[in-house]
Amino acid sequence: MSSVPQVTLNNGVQMPQLGFGVWQVPDDQAEVAVGQALAAGYRSIDTAAIYGNEEGTGRALASSGLPREELFVTTKLWNTDHGHDKALAAFDLSLSKLGLDYVDLYLIHWPAPAHDNYVESWKALEKILADGRARAVGVSNFKPDHLRRLLDETDIVPALNQIELHPNFQQAESRAFHAEHGIVTEAWSPLGSGKGLLDDPELARIAAKHGRTPAQVVLRWHLQLDNVVIPKSVTPSRITENFDVFDFSLDAEDLAAIGALDTPNRVGADPDEANWI
Ligand SMILES: NC(=O)c1ccc[n+]([C@@H]2O[C@H](COP(=O)([O-])OP(=O)(O)OC[C@H]3O[C@@H](n4cnc5c(N)ncnc54)[C@H](OP(=O)(O)O)[C@@H]3O)[C@@H](O)[C@H]2O)c1
Repeated sequence: MSSVPQVTLNNGVQMPQLGFGVWQVPDDQAEVAVGQALAAGYRSIDTAAIYGNEEGTGRALASSGLPREELFVTTKLWNTDHGHDKALAAFDLSLSKLGLDYVDLYLIHWPAPAHDNYVESWKALEKILADGRARAVGVSNFKPDHLRRLLDETDIVPALNQIELHPNFQQAESRAFHAEHGIVTEAWSPLGSGKGLLDDPELARIAAKHGRTPAQVVLRWHLQLDNVVIPKSVTPSRITENFDVFDFSLDAEDLAAIGALDTPNRVGADPDEANWI
């Protein structure tokens, strides 16, 4: 079985560079899919309170029989739970649903800037970290301006920022900001979330050149950019396919051709406009 490279977060914690995402997977199906992913070799699982599948994810982790220290579990604070005390209570509920006594990574899911309380939420995450109930804390969907505010007004630099990132939305500005501040970039919807990216003829050409699939080429591109990547699939053959990306490399011509696929178009929401509370 291939071994997944680890990235080192800013507090020294190590995280697998490839993990498994479970957005839009109902709770009972999440139990099955996470079980299949763990059997295929994934050790990092990305869920969130709003996904409604922390319990199914937790059941799969428990029944895998894998030692807790070999697993890397991420969950996220939903927008309606922003604020210091609400965030602490929401974290307790997530832990209990997962059946864990700590998570490896806890993220603020969206900054929801119109509500202007992500700084208070972040202070709760700092406490959760200090109490040893998360091994690392980070954010998701934060633009550089939101991150700058945390850097200015709080003590702990986020370990990671999980953002929409794929060949059609490459996020050069955020990636450069993260690199400058020692924040790991994690790509959500890394395969474009089933919205046509994988039908791109350039990706088909590069895939044929390497005897791989377009999905494998896209995941390889993320890995070579040093992104952490969390593809989702409920299809067993794809769960395996997406893990089989450690024995080939893209060359400079491939990377340039994928670089040219960048557009200003997101498949998900713009964080400045996502203020659903
Ligand atoms: N922080 C955030 O705000 C945020 C937002 C979105 C996503 N995320 C995280 O990122 C994870 C991944 O993003 P995502 O779920 O939007 O999309 P994704 O991983 O980019 O793509 C998933 C889609 O691609 C299909 N697929 C997977 N592997 C494939 C392959 N090898 N060949 C062809 N099609 C393939 C899946 O179909 P099947 O499942 O039918 O196989 C599904 O339709 C989520 O699960 C979640 O953990 C976070």
